[in-house]
Amino acid sequence: MRLLITGGAGFIGANFVRQTVVERPDIRVVVLDALTYAGNRASLDSIADRIEFVRGDITDAELVDRLVGGADAVVHFAAESHNDNSLARPWPFVQTNIVGTYTLLEAVRRHDVRYHHISTDEVYGDLAAAAPAFTENTPYNPSSPYSASKASSDMLVRAWVRSFGVRATISNCSNNYGPYQHVEKFIPRQITNLIDGVRPRLYGAGNQIRDWIHVEDHNRAVWTILEFGRIGQTYLIGANGELDNKSVVQLILTEFGRDPDDFDHVTDRPGHDRRYAIDASLLRTELGWEPRYADFRAGLAATIGWYREHETWWRPGKADVETAYAQAGERVL
Ligand SMILES: NC(=O)c1ccc[n+]([C@@H]2O[C@H](COP(=O)([O-])OP(=O)(O)OC[C@H]3O[C@@H](n4cnc5c(N)ncnc54)[C@H](O)[C@@H]3O)[C@@H](O)[C@H]2O)c1
Repeated sequence: MRLLITGGAGFIGANFVRQTVVERPDIRVVVLDALTYAGNRASLDSIADRIEFVRGDITDAELVDRLVGGADAVVHFAAESHNDNSLARPWPFVQTNIVGTYTLLEAVRRHDVRYHHISTDEVYGDLAAAAPAFTENTPYNPSSPYSASKASSDMLVRAWVRSFGVRATISNCSNNYGPYQHVEKFIPRQITNLIDGVRPRLYGAGNQIRDWIHVEDHNRAVWTILEFGRIGQTYLIGANGELDNKSVVQLILTEFGRDPDDFDHVTDRPGHDRRYAIDASLLRTELGWEPRYADFRAGLAATIGWYREHETWWRPGKADVETAYAQAGERVL
């Protein structure tokens, strides 16, 4: 099997590529990645000789057509993925997430190639505290330019299945954590701040609830869907990991042997969603998937260990991220 993986130098994509190369050595992997600020070639260093890496943009129709033409399946991770950036500069989100997905869909349609589309639970907007978790039937209600662009891309996939018979599946996953995540994101930012002796920073009161899943569990679910999912079907991926941001920061502080209240509150993100929660019953019952990292605290401790041991991987981007947060107006309250 020849597999084209877009965004394979990003957080989830790089973990997916690494997992695939190790667990399925018979598969020929081609990675297409533009290496934006979020992509890091070093995430693939130790397996570089076992994959083909193409630096290029998913909106480049000619390149995409050629690569898709040589593949049996495409797994599409590439995206602009950071909510805060989407508030400051929405255009790259429209371009990559919507036009890029369109470009891939046209290519898989032309070449009749199996396509799996990676999306997020953020397309559903936020949930009230006591509301039932999202299911595959929850109406879309995105809040930010990021989630709106992902919602748009999902809609394109659904239409290409219905109108053109494209063999596609979609997965909407909750918040991922694990190795190789960019230091601009919530958990790695807190961990690397603590390694640097800086107090963690919590948006607002920290009562936003996220449904955490280890990146390896997400990626095993993606493989399950790619192999056994029903064409045209959306599957939600989540591991019952609901926790508020304040508790996450406190757990990280505890792992560092620090006072759990030793953090700063900073100005909240505008339009910040309060709660996401996933009901993954369809994936569990129909396809038999189960997460392996059932204990968030253990997964978090392993992730902290990874960042401690891989400073050369994250250090180069750290100062720029903190400067960007300061320039975006983040203030300690
Ligand atoms: N991180 C999460 O918690 C989470 C949760 C659910 C779903 N998702 C989805 O999973 C996917 C991967 O997320 P991530 O956190 O790994 O993102 P990321 O930002 O870490 O990585 C994105 C990758 O895409 C590449 N890329 C960006 N624009 C490109 C373009 N125009 N052409 C080619 N490559 C381009 C980047 O260089 C980078 O390597 C995204 O589609 C995201 O919406 C993420």
